[in-house]
Amino acid sequence: MLRTALDLSGRVAVVTGAASGIGRSSAQVLAELGAAVVCADINLGGAETTAKLITEAGGTATATAVDVSAAASVDALVAGAVAEFGRLDVMANIAGIMHTSTVVETTDEDLEKVLSINFKGVFYGCRAAARVMTEQGSGSIVNMASSAIDTANAGLLCYGAAKAAMFQLTKTLATEVGPHGVRVNAVAPGWTVTGMTGRHWTAADGTEDADRKAAVAAPMAKMSPLKRVGEPEDIAYAVAYLASDAAKFMTGQVLRPNGGVTMPW
Ligand SMILES: NC(=O)c1ccc[n+]([C@@H]2O[C@H](COP(=O)([O-])OP(=O)(O)OC[C@H]3O[C@@H](n4cnc5c(N)ncnc54)[C@H](O)[C@@H]3O)[C@@H](O)[C@H]2O)c1
Repeated sequence: MLRTALDLSGRVAVVTGAASGIGRSSAQVLAELGAAVVCADINLGGAETTAKLITEAGGTATATAVDVSAAASVDALVAGAVAEFGRLDVMANIAGIMHTSTVVETTDEDLEKVLSINFKGVFYGCRAAARVMTEQGSGSIVNMASSAIDTANAGLLCYGAAKAAMFQLTKTLATEVGPHGVRVNAVAPGWTVTGMTGRHWTAADGTEDADRKAAVAAPMAKMSPLKRVGEPEDIAYAVAYLASDAAKFMTGQVLRPNGGVTMPW
């Protein structure tokens, strides 16, 4: 039954990028489905808030600091989750940063930083989780890609290349761990209202400019046949599906909750 297949009771999930946006929403949805969730982020205060929101809603969650660009930090995150909860069923590699610069203006430091967080960070999460899950004989890894894997956008080389490399990682790892009962998939969202996109209308003190928000979101919504942009929950539902047994025949795939903006063929 689909309801049973979506039930994550007794499962343990680690979510990186859980302090904000898509990561926070994914942590909340996984917890709603019954998983105990380790909310991990470089922003520990934000991760703690997410864990508090989950526990106040009746779920189980803890918060921990992680810098996904450091392998040792990610290894410690996964080891800590296993030490606390005894297993690892879902690894959602969601932490990421935006960066824009044309190829010719990109510095060595820009390239290194974006690859370190958006690609190597996911690699470290995949590797640490796969080691535990293959031993366990089960598990689902979900990596957060982007519509940028399907399109070429001026100024988005670092970001898009890191996300495209992540998709290759997703497919390759899927072939390696599938025989051990572990699935690996990616989600490639379209433009979604989060802290990442909110930088266009949010002041340093956190106040939002509603007119600016509407002005920035309108052209994005216009590109979608649904005439809307994404909300974090739209993406979190895709994460939850892939994390659950409802997706038990899905591996090496990318789901595209993007309002129909990119339709690769
Ligand atoms: N918002 C969009 O339109 C959109 C579209 C496609 C893909 N994505 C992807 O979704 C993911 C989540 O982004 P979001 O939109 O929710 O943005 P967000 O900025 O709200 O969340 C990103 C989170 O990652 C954390 N993070 C950054 N660097 C980190 C590090 N080194 N270690 C640990 N955590 C770190 C941040 O603290 C933050 O909480 C990202 O991978 C992003 O590329 C977002």
